[in-house]
Amino acid sequence: MDRKKVTIPALHAKKQRGEPISMITAYDYPGALAVDEAGVDLILVGDSLGMVVLGYESTVPVTMDEMISHTAAVKRGTKYAHIVGDMPFMSYQADVKEAVRNAGRFLKEAGADSVKLEGGAEMAPTMKAIVDAGIAVMGHIGLTPQSVSKLGGYRIQGKTRSGAHKLLEDALALQAAGAYAIVLETTPARVSEFISKQLTIPTIGIGAGAGCDGQVLVFHDLLGYFDRFSPRHNKRYANIRPIIIDAVKQYVTEVSTRAFPTVENSFAIDDAEFEAFVQEVQSIVR
Ligand code: KIV
Repeated sequence: MDRKKVTIPALHAKKQRGEPISMITAYDYPGALAVDEAGVDLILVGDSLGMVVLGYESTVPVTMDEMISHTAAVKRGTKYAHIVGDMPFMSYQADVKEAVRNAGRFLKEAGADSVKLEGGAEMAPTMKAIVDAGIAVMGHIGLTPQSVSKLGGYRIQGKTRSGAHKLLEDALALQAAGAYAIVLETTPARVSEFISKQLTIPTIGIGAGAGCDGQVLVFHDLLGYFDRFSPRHNKRYANIRPIIIDAVKQYVTEVSTRAFPTVENSFAIDDAEFEAFVQEVQSIVR
């Protein structure tokens, strides 16, 4: 089948047909080439970058410039998937105009197709301003890692009647503000499914159960590339960290025993050229 660039109407049509949407994070050119070839609908250049690529303790320190640089690399490796640039902490919370300008940078400087921001009804005016500027926006509610300190840790959201009610109100407010999709993170499966059914736009779940319209996982978690923690919501489809360590160990051994490089990994010079060179430099070498 001929693949086409994934558009927002195509994502909405998938929801209407009841076809699940797949999203994965990517942060660099080779990662984007691989996940795009694998056929995902959406690539999220997530601010999880801060934790799995840059080694920060949380997503809070990630800057706009870091996000722009990584989003541009992902763009260079992507042909078909819809690219979502994740707005980092404090790039949209303080001022609506600044939020619109920063959202615009993702499209203008990095080539993203849309942006994502965290927050519920309180973020609806900001989301509307970005949408009014002609930029598609994905919402993100439930466990919002940029507010982890306020939430009291990485814990499930919407577990009580009032919590579930607030999630639904947040989702409806974001939809009304013009969101084209909403990430639901770490929310009870039945609540996520209920909310998904109330919305005309797709929900993309992470730790939110099978009743969402789509799913998202973090590249490093899915591939077992990162073993500092493996969140409960994750499924490891591969375990590449030990493969990398074994390969690099073998390389270190081969370098130390001179088994690498061999002639196959080396370049030759014509015998006569080399002899002439040695003659020529006799006077300056020992
Ligand atoms: O930054 C990220 O990777 C995310 C996903 C977990 C949805 O926001």
